[in-house]
Amino acid sequence: MQIPTIASILLCANLVAAAPGTAMRRQRAVERAAERASRASNTLQPVEGELGIASGNDTAHVDYSSNWAGAVLIGSGYKSVTGTIVVPTPKVPSGGSSSTSYSASAWVGIDGDTCQTAILQTGVDFTVKGSSVSYDAWYEWYPDYAYDFSGITIKAGDTITMTVTATSKSAGTAVIENVTTGKTVTHSFSAESDALCETNAEWIVEDFSSGGSLVSFANFGTVTFTGASVNSGTGVSGATIIDIQQSNKVLTSCSTSGSSSVTCSYTG
Ligand SMILES: *[C@@H]1O[C@H](CO)[C@@H](O)[C@H](O)[C@H]1NC(C)=O
Ligand SMILES: *[C@@H]1O[C@H](CO)[C@@H](O)[C@H](O)[C@H]1NC(C)=O
Repeated sequence: MQIPTIASILLCANLVAAAPGTAMRRQRAVERAAERASRASNTLQPVEGELGIASGNDTAHVDYSSNWAGAVLIGSGYKSVTGTIVVPTPKVPSGGSSSTSYSASAWVGIDGDTCQTAILQTGVDFTVKGSSVSYDAWYEWYPDYAYDFSGITIKAGDTITMTVTATSKSAGTAVIENVTTGKTVTHSFSAESDALCETNAEWIVEDFSSGGSLVSFANFGTVTFTGASVNSGTGVSGATIIDIQQSNKVLTSCSTSGSSSVTCSYTG
């Protein structure tokens, strides 16, 4: 009689345990986890040139960046930033392919513009591939990767409030609240080696990185941050508006309205 090897026993066990559909789902889950494991935001990467800040167009008050769209306040003593969004449904951009993943992220944060050493941030990624859409809520202390929150399931149309609070330049919290239920998920950071400056407060739609390069940018529709405030008081007045420009094309249109609202629309 042939003695089965451990490998063949494991193989059989796997075959018994997993129907082909399950195996495929499992494989996709593994691939997705690997992709998420290297998901990271970046500091603001300015685009200079004809359309950008080097043209000195002070009328428009718009700066261009390859990865950030939204509003940034530049000042000092920024210890807490908050904003509420309704989660959008991302779409494949026109001319896009149904076999490519497209993503965008909406988040609030401290630093990452004039302060490039660290970012304390939290937000939600939206991803679309063909007809399938997925969402991930995460927290990040840049330059470390982002980590997914567990215990919160995001879907289009959900209203969520995102808040980051720096308790010192190397510690703080990231909180996402389900506004409907009041339920929150929280992550506490402590003794981070990359220090905040507490000089930038921002509400951003980002083309983030996965595996070291920018993900294909999704048509995110419109994201509006309401209740945008800093240190529980100061609003967005005086913020610099940033739009994403890639390959000489402006892909977003952002603006502020009143003292506590920032809206970005995809225009690519
Ligand atoms: C500055 O930007 C505004 C708004 O986009 C535009 O109308 C204007 O022509 C620009 N001016 C220059 C000198 O580029
Ligand atoms: C918030 O709670 C509502 C009601 O239970 C639920 O439908 C929604 O999916 C939740 N959203 C998030 C982001 O937790």
